[in-house]
Amino acid sequence: MGLEIRDASVIYPTADGRPPVEALRQINLEIVDDDFVVALGASGCGKSTLLSLIAGFLSPSSGAILLDGEPVQGPGADRAVVFQKHALMPWLNVLDNVAFGLKLQGVPAARRYETARGFIRLLGLTDFEGARVYNLSGGMQQRVGIARALTCDPKVLLMDEPLGALDALTREKAQELILNIWHSTHKSVFFITHSVEEALFMGTKLIVMSPRPGRIAHRFDLPFSRQFLAGTPARQVKASRAFIDLREEVLEIIFSDEESAI
Ligand SMILES: Nc1ncnc2c1ncn2[C@@H]1O[C@H](COP(=O)(O)OP(=O)(O)O)[C@@H](O)[C@H]1O
Ligand SMILES: [Mg+2]
Repeated sequence: MGLEIRDASVIYPTADGRPPVEALRQINLEIVDDDFVVALGASGCGKSTLLSLIAGFLSPSSGAILLDGEPVQGPGADRAVVFQKHALMPWLNVLDNVAFGLKLQGVPAARRYETARGFIRLLGLTDFEGARVYNLSGGMQQRVGIARALTCDPKVLLMDEPLGALDALTREKAQELILNIWHSTHKSVFFITHSVEEALFMGTKLIVMSPRPGRIAHRFDLPFSRQFLAGTPARQVKASRAFIDLREEVLEIIFSDEESAI
């Protein structure tokens, strides 16, 4: 059980006589149990379109998206999305932002604050519970967004370049935080990034997509996040021979794709 994308294609109609955009062609992908699936690929290869299909923001032109065997009909609390630009409510403090989804679901105040506080603690934000989100750094705002997504207890966490706007050091710390949270909450994750190193470090499965039309060109099973979670320091994992060799192999794929597209 879990999420299954079966032969899904997406064609965007365009206005004024231009040809339609074939954003995805016959995508097949499973995201089950403790999978951390990372999608990597050049801009325009359909990564965000694939995430929108899973989120239910968009229906496939053909094919199917199934969650535990049932067709996805639209957005739902079983799938939570974290975007690069957080979509927090600036007039609310951290606690109310994190509790917001539960409020929408009609959960009574005492219970939603208790749940929200648990995730605020998990994300290391307890001292900032009462702060307005616009006073927080980019990295902290992103942690608030992740806490909010987790609060509704989704089966699948969808992240579209969630760390893309962070500086290098904050980004590495955030990678480790997300892996620890994934490990302790047992969510399935679908994670989009432009960074080959981030993709290799975080995923259990990697799909490399290629454009025009968007499709899955390569698939890899990855051991590195498990090594980190078993206690090997992140820098040591990223400096290992196996990591560097695979990084070069994936970079080679992406660069040759870019050249053939020019
Ligand atoms: N709403 C839309 N209407 C028409 N074309 C779109 C729309 N959204 C995305 N596209 C096109 O579909 C392709 C895939 O886009 P996208 O999924 O955003 O790729 P990525 O996230 O990998 O950069 C691109 O060529 C993009 O221009
Ligand atoms: Mg995108």
